[in-house]
Amino acid sequence: MYAFEPDPNQPKPELYRELIESARALTAGEPDPVANMANLAALIGQFLPRLNWAGFYRVLGDELVLGPFQGKAACIRIALGQGVCGTAAQTGQTQLVADVHAFPGHIACDAASASELVVPVIRNGQVIAVIDLDSPVLGRFDAEDAAGIEALAAAIAAVI
Ligand code: SME
Repeated sequence: MYAFEPDPNQPKPELYRELIESARALTAGEPDPVANMANLAALIGQFLPRLNWAGFYRVLGDELVLGPFQGKAACIRIALGQGVCGTAAQTGQTQLVADVHAFPGHIACDAASASELVVPVIRNGQVIAVIDLDSPVLGRFDAEDAAGIEALAAAIAAVI
């Protein structure tokens, strides 16, 4: 059993420090990427309040393919450059979207999603996956969330 008990009301930088420490502990010594992505998606869901979807899309060839996640069943394949996830994967840049309905080409997997944060996971200079967080709350994510998930992406790039 893993007893992570985050306090979602603590300041975000501390919450993300604790999330990253937990992520390192949970994946240490485990070489299986699916197991690690599954546990990381669960950990994100435990640590971060007000999410309706959290998980991974992996870059396979010229598209993104759904990976382990928490939330409703989602789109399986997304072309690079399409939607918020495909834009993050193609540009290698974090996408912080306060209102998904204002994002041209946004792909609605869960009608409840109102805002979204997508962070590329980069290994050896290549985008290998994205971490996708969706929230039913408009403007749920800010620069501290982006910095926190970027730090998480860097911490886990070697184990997914
Ligand atoms: N909204 C994303 C698609 C993935 S779902 O949110 C899980 C996008 O526009 O890329």
